[in-house]
Amino acid sequence: MVCLGNICRSPLADGILRFKAKHENLDWIIDSAGTSHWHQGENPDARATTCAKKYGVDISGLVARQFTKNDFDEFDKIYAMDTSNYRDVLKLAADEADKQKVEMILNLVEPGKNKSVPDPYFGGEDGFDEVYKMLDEACEKIIEQLK
Ligand code: 4NP
Repeated sequence: MVCLGNICRSPLADGILRFKAKHENLDWIIDSAGTSHWHQGENPDARATTCAKKYGVDISGLVARQFTKNDFDEFDKIYAMDTSNYRDVLKLAADEADKQKVEMILNLVEPGKNKSVPDPYFGGEDGFDEVYKMLDEACEKIIEQLK
């Protein structure tokens, strides 16, 4: 799961998918990263942690890190939250096989539309709930598609 800062959207997506995968007894390795290094080493934004907690999802222990080209070797699927993250991740792809791993996460819900998950960082608490619902729906599709 990849966003810009790795403190708002991608930790939520990471936590939601871990939660669902555990429920399905799926032995998946799930992680998240940011295209920037700005918040490296930080826990998720408190608003994201509070939002997830309402749904029983604990993301408080996640630690932000920057996406690297090695992630293409570690993961089979890479989900970008917005078009900017998508482009930045693709820039680090070594070959066509790497590029094929990258998908806009909301395309799971609305295929081919290339919609972005809105960045809630500069807004209020409501933005996090809206983002949570979008990511919950997308993660449900990921489970259906890959389990
Ligand atoms: P995220 O949100 O990419 O969903 O983690 C942001 C976090 C921090 C900043 C921007 C977006 N920032 O400008 O510091």
